[in-house]
Amino acid sequence: MNMHKYEKIWLLFGAGTLLVFLIVVGISAFYMGNQPPSCAVTLDPEKVDEAAPFDEPGLKQIGDNEYQLTIVASAFNYDVGNDDKVVQIPKGATVHFSVTTKDVVHGFELVGTNVNMMLEPGYISTYTNTFDKPGEYTLLCNEYCGAGHHLMAATIEVTD
Ligand code: CUA
Repeated sequence: MNMHKYEKIWLLFGAGTLLVFLIVVGISAFYMGNQPPSCAVTLDPEKVDEAAPFDEPGLKQIGDNEYQLTIVASAFNYDVGNDDKVVQIPKGATVHFSVTTKDVVHGFELVGTNVNMMLEPGYISTYTNTFDKPGEYTLLCNEYCGAGHHLMAATIEVTD
């Protein structure tokens, strides 16, 4: 079969790009451990306030610089366990997020990190992140959820 030179180049380019994408996805998934957030755990969205751990939202130390952070989202608020909506964690801490929503779908994006989840009523969204850089990280809702959507935010402060 006679193939035009440009066609060969184009085919090689296509195959090469595919290979590069597979390598990037492979490294991201198996070496860096990036997985889609799991939605395997369910709960009754009308009984969030009674169900552990969501009956007591906030930060709990569970190990050596390791924390469980439980957050309840609702229109238009993140309940992080205090009225200031600020969570302070030490630098280098590993935080296991456990989040759910009481009403509609909300977003859960921690700007500047890989933490980015969708919160769906009836499901518990989890993610683990290690905070190596000190600073203020804004937690915001990136799913339109109603009139107060743009007000829905909280802060995670990583201290030195
Ligand atoms: Cu909650 Cu937008």
